[in-house]
Amino acid sequence: GDCIPFYGKHQAGIITPSQNFIYFAAFDVTTTDAKELKKLLQAWTAAAAAMTEGSMLGEESANHNLPPVDTGESAGLSPSRLTLTFGAGPSLFDSRFGLASKRPANFSDLPAFNGDQLDARWCGGDLAVQACADDLQVAFHAIRNLARIARGKAVLRWTQEGFQRTGSADPAGGTPRNLLGFKDGTANPDTTSSEQMNRVVWAGAEGGAAWMAGGSYMAVRRIRMRIEVWDRSSLKDQEETFGRYRASGAPLGGQHEFDKVDLSAKGPDGSPAIPANSHMALARGDGSVQILRRSYSYSGGIDAKTGQLDAGLLFICFQRDLQKQFIPLQQKLAKSDRLNEYIQHVGSAVFACFPGASSGGYIGETLL
Ligand code: HEM
Repeated sequence: GDCIPFYGKHQAGIITPSQNFIYFAAFDVTTTDAKELKKLLQAWTAAAAAMTEGSMLGEESANHNLPPVDTGESAGLSPSRLTLTFGAGPSLFDSRFGLASKRPANFSDLPAFNGDQLDARWCGGDLAVQACADDLQVAFHAIRNLARIARGKAVLRWTQEGFQRTGSADPAGGTPRNLLGFKDGTANPDTTSSEQMNRVVWAGAEGGAAWMAGGSYMAVRRIRMRIEVWDRSSLKDQEETFGRYRASGAPLGGQHEFDKVDLSAKGPDGSPAIPANSHMALARGDGSVQILRRSYSYSGGIDAKTGQLDAGLLFICFQRDLQKQFIPLQQKLAKSDRLNEYIQHVGSAVFACFPGASSGGYIGETLL
């Protein structure tokens, strides 16, 4: 069906197969009262559970003198596999809400990475809501109504819409291509394997944070692509940048997308078939550090200064420990990735995505 259950051991939207669209929103909490923060998360939970079932918020009121409770643009639409995933940023653990002692030891703002060109317009946030759905209007409606419910307690800090090819454009459901034209997501861990998800994605109670057991840490990077430069580089150069063929997605030297990758294989001239500084070779390493990528393409109009497209990847990944997974990986990529010539990291945030809630409970209750 097209309804993904909201309640469960884990939040939906993490190992859920990617929907067609994302509407990502980071919020700043404006109240300084911990009780109000709790009320906000309770109200968000109830609204999220209703919206993921495709229900309108509130009772239909016959009073024409009051604004309707629900903003109405999703009336009559199916739930479209809507998921709403909530997380807390490191700043939520400052002195405002008495949560400082609950900040997981391994959770803080990301360090600066080589080449970062971050813009405050796309960074940080006390809370995050990732809305994913097969319909952008449904995802937009969800964020709009959560922002409305937050009035007086939290305000939007930044948002980003994203997309990938839709299910109707690709009924076979192959690996989607990013805006550089390459299949993106081939080597992701297997979300149907609980062994892999427990090892890679689901947090335990490490770092003194028992409240995060069953949750997951999210890294978000708004990565702009230098599309015009990429479009002028040769196919050979593009393929050597990723270490895979553009058409098939196969590793260089291989035949098929899911062929086993052998980083020590030599090409006809004796040099490595997959360049050591290619994105795949560096991101893969010895295979011991894995993450679950769940990114979307974005397009944000044009860069007023250059007249070029502001488009790229809203890179999102989930892991059980940022210090052991995303951070060392990104440090390595930031230093030597051949892809760096074609990308710029312009936005950044991390969130501790809560464990799931059960009906009657609320998202964030293990923390508050
Ligand atoms: C693999 C694209 C940023 C981590 C790949 C692949 C592509 C790709 C085409 C090969 C196919 C696949 O396995 O999915 C991009 C683009 C990026 C980007 C266009 C930026 C705009 C990042 C970042 C990270 C990352 C920031 C993490 C810090 C990975 C990992 C793999 C991968 C772990 C799989 C490596 C393997 O085990 O084979 N990426 N990527 N990527 N990327 Fe990225």
